[in-house]
Amino acid sequence: MCNTNETTPKQRVLSCIQPSGLLTLGNYLGALKNWTQMQSQFDCTFAVADLHAITVRQEPAKLRSQIYSTFALLLALGIDPEQNTVFIQSQVPYHTALSWVLSCYTQFGEMSRMTQFKDKSAKHPDNINVGLFSYPVLMAADILLYQPAFVPVGADQKQHLEIARDIALRFNHLYGDVFTVPEAYIPKTGARIMSLQDPAKKMSKSDDNANSWIAILDSKDDIIRKFKRAVTDSDSCVRMSPDKPGVSNLITIYGAVTGKTADEVEREFEGKGYGDFKLAVGEAVADTLAPIKQRHDEIIKDKKELERLYKAGAEKASRTAAKTYFKVMKKVGFVL
Ligand code: TYM
Repeated sequence: MCNTNETTPKQRVLSCIQPSGLLTLGNYLGALKNWTQMQSQFDCTFAVADLHAITVRQEPAKLRSQIYSTFALLLALGIDPEQNTVFIQSQVPYHTALSWVLSCYTQFGEMSRMTQFKDKSAKHPDNINVGLFSYPVLMAADILLYQPAFVPVGADQKQHLEIARDIALRFNHLYGDVFTVPEAYIPKTGARIMSLQDPAKKMSKSDDNANSWIAILDSKDDIIRKFKRAVTDSDSCVRMSPDKPGVSNLITIYGAVTGKTADEVEREFEGKGYGDFKLAVGEAVADTLAPIKQRHDEIIKDKKELERLYKAGAEKASRTAAKTYFKVMKKVGFVL
């Protein structure tokens, strides 16, 4: 006989974002936009990965305010904290605890090959700390604790996700099916948004040149000004091409915010110059981000409500994380 109450459980999704500075249009198009869209279909867990932020030196008061702001931004994006689990990583100690265990199942050689480690060590030669080196293991713990099927990220996190999968497979091979082996969920458009000043580099909040990136919380005037100054090339043809990286990046951005294909964007600006095109991109981006900024600025004012939500989020996350953590401890041979 059919049981009409039976429903298939939703597949799980997990992702995190660092609060190290203002979040960018790259974060939004590469990851956050997908997070919001996935919540209706999946059982989602999203976190502010504050522990990751201290691999580079942070000013304590600034870090604290960025953690609040990032948490508020997740809510402003429309992520529902009742329907999903939204929390701050450092408030769930299972992440660091599992990270230690997983680090004993990760090889030094694997970590040495991580491109982000190489890039960040080159950028901060005076602070190549062990945390920077073992960062992907903490990220693997963030993921594997929640047994997600999918991890929505931008293209730059693909290598870290592959390591998380390798660690999960290795552990499962030794101890049986402990971890779900997750898949990266990378958007077709917007997975790699480039700097507006140097389209060979990814758009990043840690870029010293503020004209190279758009903050989600930038004002409309700033957004338009930055797009007007964006690097293009000497001809004036709006066309997607490997020899036109600046223009191609702007087409990608415009396409991602308007939902138009590259062909449609090229047709729209046929016979028009870069001036018109850059202004249209700036306006479309500003119109997309304005309501998010407005909601963020309202939410951040109510610290009490924020505190209630992040504490409830941490409790909910801890319940799921504890199940995986104690399973791991038992399998490895610890006394529970
Ligand atoms: P983070 O904080 O640097 O970036 C957060 C998300 O934004 C994406 N992203 C981009 N996408 C497209 N174009 C860009 N220019 C761009 N810049 C950033 C990133 O790919 C990411 O999806 N290690 C992670 C945070 C993390 C995490 C995790 C992610 C910690 N634990 C567990 C997933 C699962 C990071 O530093 O992302």
